Amino acid sequence: MRQLDLFPHSWPNPGHDQRYRPYTRNRDHSPCRARGGFGALAGRPSTTLPHDGRVGIVPLCFGKTKESDMSELENPPPLAKDAAWPQNLVIRARRPSDAEGIVTLHNLPGYRYGTLRTPHHTPDEIRKGIESQPANVTGLIALLDGRIVGDAGLTRFSNRRVHVGSIGMGVHDAYVGKGIGRALIGEVVALADDWFNLRRVELTVYTDNEPAIRLYEKNGFVTEGLMKEFAFRDGSYVDAYCMARIRP
Ligand SMILES: CC(C)(COP(=O)(O)OP(=O)(O)OC[C@H]1O[C@@H](n2cnc3c(N)ncnc32)[C@H](O)[C@@H]1OP(=O)(O)O)[C@@H](O)C(=O)NCCC(=O)NCCS
Repeated sequence: MRQLDLFPHSWPNPGHDQRYRPYTRNRDHSPCRARGGFGALAGRPSTTLPHDGRVGIVPLCFGKTKESDMSELENPPPLAKDAAWPQNLVIRARRPSDAEGIVTLHNLPGYRYGTLRTPHHTPDEIRKGIESQPANVTGLIALLDGRIVGDAGLTRFSNRRVHVGSIGMGVHDAYVGKGIGRALIGEVVALADDWFNLRRVELTVYTDNEPAIRLYEKNGFVTEGLMKEFAFRDGSYVDAYCMARIRP
């Protein structure tokens, strides 16, 4: 069982919901509000995908980059429809300069317990991993007031499995139970469904990781099988479930 005494969860968390703000994604397609539109940053025309899924070329948008444009590029709004994020949460692509914050996250005992991380990761190995990240991987981090409080990755397969992706994720030990995992998986599922057109997303989770299993079930994943002695963890073997979500 998860050592709740060593890695306490603040769950259930009274007042939990008060920390959310209903963050509905921006449905304003005004061309100058460059949602991911690097064209606007550079003063070039930008191509966007309106939220109804139709591809559209928005009109030319010239002129100086506004402060609000920069802020949207630094703090992109949710991809997920009806996303409700904790206040001040930012989810964006990880960068080599994030290595220090990510290594702190990956070296946390609770994070390690639920994942395949080993003790004593270094900033250098994380930085190299980001720098050599293959094109089929999307690596996201979650920041709360500038601190890295979670991460998630989506790996897309190829050839006859081009419709399939796999995910992994984790939240900072001190920030579990605050809606960050929900926000991260919402973004990863939206990426898979609405941008990479994946039919199937799969993952592996330890059989004793109740919080993660509940989170995945809530997001449409079902258990497909049991893998005995899947990994070695803190002195003993641990079983894992394979779970998957077929796009509805
Ligand atoms: C599993 C994990 C990602 C959940 O993230 P989180 O930010 O704590 O979860 P959230 O606060 O966003 O809660 C989302 C849902 O997860 C489930 N959940 C979270 N904590 C739970 C707990 N202690 N018990 C049962 N369900 C829990 C609930 O279904 C919850 O939905 P609800 O708020 O509508 O009830 C996080 O605990 C974690 O990173 N653990 C360590 C690393 C890890 O295990 N990674 C997963 C590898 S497969």
